[in-house]
Amino acid sequence: MLQGYTFLGDPVDVVETSRGCTFDCSFCSIIEMRGRNFYTREMARVIADITDAHDHGAKVIFLVDDNVTLDVRRFEALCEAIIEANLHHLRYIVQGMTSAFAAHGERLAPLMKRAGFEYVFLGIENVLEADLAFLKASAKNAQREGGRRVGNATLAAIEILHRHGIFVVGGLIVGNPDDTSEAIEANLAFARAHVALNGFDGADTQFLDADVNATLRRFIEEGRSFDAIVLDPPKFAPTVAHAERAARAYKDINRLALKLLEPGGVLMSFSCSGGIGADLFHKIVASAGLDAHVDGYITERLGASPDHPMTIEFPEGEYLKGLVVVRKLG
Ligand SMILES: C[S@@+](CC[C@H](N)C(=O)[O-])C[C@H]1O[C@@H](n2cnc3c(N)ncnc32)[C@H](O)[C@@H]1O
Ligand code: SF4
Repeated sequence: MLQGYTFLGDPVDVVETSRGCTFDCSFCSIIEMRGRNFYTREMARVIADITDAHDHGAKVIFLVDDNVTLDVRRFEALCEAIIEANLHHLRYIVQGMTSAFAAHGERLAPLMKRAGFEYVFLGIENVLEADLAFLKASAKNAQREGGRRVGNATLAAIEILHRHGIFVVGGLIVGNPDDTSEAIEANLAFARAHVALNGFDGADTQFLDADVNATLRRFIEEGRSFDAIVLDPPKFAPTVAHAERAARAYKDINRLALKLLEPGGVLMSFSCSGGIGADLFHKIVASAGLDAHVDGYITERLGASPDHPMTIEFPEGEYLKGLVVVRKLG
């Protein structure tokens, strides 16, 4: 049982029913780590794991499967097994693929709802066909029937899941090497439209397509400050050879962010660079604090989640690191 983890206030645990994926999206870390494979676990074992999590106090289950919708029949059988085992009073979160929900959602979504599924992460990735082609993820936008393309799978999947009372969290990837501002703006417009469609006040939510360093500097000049800042930049140092240059880049954004933080505010600063170890990352953030004349308490050191593969034969798997820093009041 995971201790101390909650989802919207309720104790959460993770269960694995399958692993891997046979698609080949160019950005996907799953394919990098495991190759194009799909392994499934026996249904009885999955139900035993969910029962065990429940017996240890879990109220929410995150199914960590990379692409549970790769085998829709099996996913339906899983929903049925959950209902049969009387485990459908738990709340479930899962990640699945747009095209699978577009093709099978009319049958799948109501069954998922009955089984207790509440949130689905959809890898939407991008709303533009050209970007999806670059990401080798064109299948995500194609709604097919009888081998023919009949519509937009992303919009169909969102509509079907919403209609059955299931929340959707969508992932968008922008900033491909040849992306234009217009291409990024098209994706941000899609995100903005869904903020409004969900009944939220758009004025409270800003999506900016901007140069991070220049924008943070402008915010400082304008005297703005923030209660919480999350820095989650791309991989500045894929290998140790890039570490020196990357260290300067990490220090710059951390220095600017610390300056923008309210006293008592929280900075969550991350690095996914294999070339920057946790100790070096701490030193970089410390040095950024010195330059910014800002001190803070490290309240948490973060790493990969428990389902992330870190084997003794694959030390490169340990590349995710993060610090949670609360700015000192004085
Ligand atoms: C394991 S997939 C789960 C979703 C599901 N398999 C799908 O394709 O819709 C996890 C999601 O994380 C994101 N992701 C995976 N690798 C990534 C990477 N290297 N950089 C950024 N996002 C990534 C993508 O949005 C992807 O859809
Ligand atoms: S479909 Fe999902 S899990 Fe499969 S390769 Fe693409 S992003 Fe990764």
